[in-house]
Amino acid sequence: MNYQQFFRDQLDQLQEEGNYRVFADLGRQCGAFPTARNYAEDGPEKVTVWCSNDYLGMGQHPCILAAMHQAIDECGAGAGGTRNISGTTHEHVLLEQELADLHCKEAALLFTSGYVSNWAALGTLASRIPGIIVLSDELNHASMIEGIRHSRCQKRIWKHNDIADLERQLADIPANVPKLIAFESVYSMDGDIAPVAEICDLADRYGAMTYLDEVHAVGLYGPRGGGIAEREGLMDRLTVIEGTLGKAFGVVGGYIAASKELVDFVRSFASGFIFTTALPPAVAAGAAASVRHLKQSNTERYLHQQRVREVRDRLDELSIPHTPNPSHIIPVMVGDPVKCRFISDVLMRDYGIYIQPINYPTVPKGTERLRITPSPVHSTEDVDRLVSALGELWTQCQLARRPMAAQ
Ligand SMILES: Cc1ncc(COP(=O)(O)O)c(C=O)c1O
Repeated sequence: MNYQQFFRDQLDQLQEEGNYRVFADLGRQCGAFPTARNYAEDGPEKVTVWCSNDYLGMGQHPCILAAMHQAIDECGAGAGGTRNISGTTHEHVLLEQELADLHCKEAALLFTSGYVSNWAALGTLASRIPGIIVLSDELNHASMIEGIRHSRCQKRIWKHNDIADLERQLADIPANVPKLIAFESVYSMDGDIAPVAEICDLADRYGAMTYLDEVHAVGLYGPRGGGIAEREGLMDRLTVIEGTLGKAFGVVGGYIAASKELVDFVRSFASGFIFTTALPPAVAAGAAASVRHLKQSNTERYLHQQRVREVRDRLDELSIPHTPNPSHIIPVMVGDPVKCRFISDVLMRDYGIYIQPINYPTVPKGTERLRITPSPVHSTEDVDRLVSALGELWTQCQLARRPMAAQ
């Protein structure tokens, strides 16, 4: 086989389908977020980032930076091994305590990313509990799908956020069969929120465990940043809450929080936890500082929601269509892959605004969009520049505006 030719052909096919991914070569500027330096040869030197998942700008927060600097000075760079073989440092232990407390659970377990936490925890639970059936929301993240697939368990896919469909499928499974309902709170592409309480009601009625991915909610919702389940007073009703330290908390890493038995079970059987080097102590220290800070400060959450409202209102003034949803994610609908890529390119080149286009297969064909994520570190001037640039490009691309009556 001509291996190189094979690779080239596959990449050419991606290019032809318009699915080839191009990364922006940017350097984030600490202290000046959301500004980033653009390393591309053409285009402006500085850009304003409008699509970051560092939702609160915590990646440059002084309390995190201080904790990380201190931990590097004290512990050095890496963890030095897996958690089992010399890789557990006190910073990991403290962070796990902080996370268990955040979600009012007995224990928490760290992973190297949110992706790995879903893959490893779901993969382990679903492969080791005899006869289990996993009921998975159809729009669950790739990391959950891969974990479930890897376990080779029986699975049922239920229609997105559709309680009636979930109930129909639960009722179809014999009462004595173990079940796990896997879902997210805030769905990252549409920004809609799951009916968590109703799903918990069904879980109780049919004897199922619940696994909730709060990756796009932790730090952002609830009085202490515990996510949607905290905001709605439901944390005790969920069997497992999973989250990331890489988005609103501004660092990197993932975790689950649950009962001490469940956490110990995953710790003891999950290969994606056992056989990999632990997160660097400085990362754990930075993440713990972020979690601690957002437990007692509502300022960032308040400013975040205000900025989201401001962007939505300004888009409405120009009748630029965006999906109404109850979260902080603003999907501005373009509905055409070529125009979506074009708008993103021109925003970067001519306006110094970076928004990655979201095209198929990340979203269904015909729903191509710009996914805008306002943050407390965006200014009103940033909002002005963004919205007027979009207004000009909407006219240039002859895209439909939303009728006023529908707003
Ligand atoms: C719903 C969801 N779960 C899990 C992940 C993975 O988290 P991480 O980026 O920490 O690996 C993502 C990433 O975007 C996500 O959107």
